[in-house]
Amino acid sequence: MSAIPYPKVSPLAQTPRHVAIIMDGNGRWALERGLPRVEGHRQGAKAVNRVVTACREMGVEVLTLYAFSEQNWGRPDQEVGLLMQLLHDYVRQERMEILGNGIRLTTIGDTSRLPVFVRIPLDALVAESAKNKGMRLVLALSYGGREELVDAVKAIARRVASGELIPEHVDQDTVADALHTSGWEDPELVIRTSGELRLSNFLLWQSAYAELYFTDTYWPDFDRESLEAAFVQFAKRKRRFGLTDQQVAEPLEQRH
Ligand code: IPE
Ligand code: IPE
Ligand code: MG
Repeated sequence: MSAIPYPKVSPLAQTPRHVAIIMDGNGRWALERGLPRVEGHRQGAKAVNRVVTACREMGVEVLTLYAFSEQNWGRPDQEVGLLMQLLHDYVRQERMEILGNGIRLTTIGDTSRLPVFVRIPLDALVAESAKNKGMRLVLALSYGGREELVDAVKAIARRVASGELIPEHVDQDTVADALHTSGWEDPELVIRTSGELRLSNFLLWQSAYAELYFTDTYWPDFDRESLEAAFVQFAKRKRRFGLTDQQVAEPLEQRH
């Protein structure tokens, strides 16, 4: 929860505890096949199934999927409508998979903007799965990192205005606790598919020390093997958190 995570070792050395994925490239996948963009989104939903299963089986604790950004509302109405329909279908179809495997479904982002026909089954599944103890599956929907930070600033300002908090006591935990991701570990690995090398407003605060992994694979083609390749890369990275190599090699209690 503290803003800069202290190095921790995953139970399986190469499995990150929290993986966050920018699922990109559905449109180009379809375009290259002469198919409508929506077909790419449809195949993208299948990739979500594969990756959720693989992460669960590999012992990932939190999987955050960037499914729809705040900025994506600006796409043509027809595409937004189809994406909402696919989201609705995903929630309905995956209900048993999620409940049967002890997955906790959560969302981040301004889900009040989602149409009611999506919100009803989504909220129901979030509530139904709340007591599950398995992997946490976080869908970032109508999500933007800057929007989230603005909301956090407003919440903190309200606490200061009410006299509950003094500005000098605002620290990194105060900010982290005011984010939608409050209480979870920061992502250790952020994956982006489709060859784009940017964050596109995803988990800006939380990714401060995340390892970034970019692959040219389009999201509809992403599978267990692609995920394993990312985890292998992750395991090879040296995470220093600002320290020296020597400090990182020392046991925690000997560090000063
Ligand atoms: C990602 O694929 C899905 C969403 C952003 C909803 P895109 O639709 O962005 O696919 P490209 O980037 O146009 O290929
Ligand atoms: C980022 O992809 C958002 C999601 C994957 C949901 P975009 O396709 O919207 O990002 P840009 O526009 O290429 O930066
Ligand atoms: Mg894209």
